[in-house]
Amino acid sequence: MPSPTDRFDRPIRDLRVSVTDRCNFRCTYCMPKELFGKDHEFLPRTDLLSFEEIAVIVAAFVQRGAEKVRITGGEPLLRKGIEDLIAMISGIEGVRDLTLTTNGSLLVRKAESLAAAGLNRVTVSLDAVDEKTFQKMNDVGFPVSAVLDAIEVAASAGLGPIKINCVVQKGVNDHAVPEMAAHFKGTGHIVRFIEYMDVGTTNGWRLDDVLPASEIIEMIHEIHPVEPLAPNYPGEVANRFRYLDGDGEVGVIASVTKPFCGSCTRARVSAEGSLYTCLFASKGEDLRGAIRSGIDVGEVIDRVWSDRDDRYSEIRSSQTVRIGAPVEMSYIGG
Ligand code: GTP
Ligand code: 5AD
Ligand code: SF4
Ligand code: SF4
Repeated sequence: MPSPTDRFDRPIRDLRVSVTDRCNFRCTYCMPKELFGKDHEFLPRTDLLSFEEIAVIVAAFVQRGAEKVRITGGEPLLRKGIEDLIAMISGIEGVRDLTLTTNGSLLVRKAESLAAAGLNRVTVSLDAVDEKTFQKMNDVGFPVSAVLDAIEVAASAGLGPIKINCVVQKGVNDHAVPEMAAHFKGTGHIVRFIEYMDVGTTNGWRLDDVLPASEIIEMIHEIHPVEPLAPNYPGEVANRFRYLDGDGEVGVIASVTKPFCGSCTRARVSAEGSLYTCLFASKGEDLRGAIRSGIDVGEVIDRVWSDRDDRYSEIRSSQTVRIGAPVEMSYIGG
């Protein structure tokens, strides 16, 4: 099957599938309580793709060049029977890397069964290792020790090396960067510090809130010297660094100051089955409708991908105003 390329000659390599828009955290930069309170209407169950529909979509993407599949949310471990979905996807020939991004809150219970179902790795989101900062950010009083335990349990279950995603917001958790790096140095887990992005419309993002990746690395380097490492694969979003004393690696994701749209091979599918060709897109293509009315999703994917010309982060760097009304991170999964 010929694999489509987009208008900038980028193939499809990664597929990210959100399985729920719900989350048990209320991270202030992602699902602020004022906007995601008791009255917030999440997607009704019948609107969610079934596991069978997700498997059809994944298979169509794999036939078109996708090799990596990442399950996201909201919090994907809130979706009932998630292990069954993992088993279905891991059984699709051509899926080389099957991973999941989680806040870690349900991982102690689920790590073994996820690994048994065929999950290769997990990435855990964690914005600080000090209790005060972490609880202020998750805003539901979730203790940091439970996430740290989850990381160890997941590693023991064979879901490592564990990557730990830390979104850095100036004035909120930038002070926590050195402690965070030091905590995981020498553990075999890899922390990646992410520049805070202007995803969605609810987090009140300002460029002033972004701590540039270069400054993050400088902060770490002053305490524990590092040097750059080559990417693991072309188009890797994180810039990698190794500790000079051999104690492992750390990464930064410079989505704002050094956009990587040129090598962006990522397609995203929301929990209700909309295909988005960019994290900052305001409109998706309805794959669920296509499946439910008997239309070949492969043909829809070919058409949408061939027409793709997204490069939001590159354009944003040269402008001060934003274009369109992007979807929320909790909906599209990061
Ligand atoms: P692996 O290399 O497979 O471990 O995963 P990854 O590096 O692709 O990373 P992950 O999915 O954990 O992404 C980490 C973060 O990088 C996301 O939460 C986003 O904040 C950011 N990111 C990932 N992909 C994109 C993208 O396509 N565009 C932008 N602007 N940011 C992205
Ligand atoms: N900027 C950067 N990363 C974000 N994430 C959520 N919102 C943002 C944002 N505004 C990250 C989470 C998680 C992943 C799903 O996306 O921390 O690691
Ligand atoms: Fe939930 Fe992740 Fe959003 Fe936090 S960043 S509210 S854990 S989806
Ligand atoms: Fe890809 Fe859009 Fe992110 Fe650029 S901004 S790297 S095109 S998802």
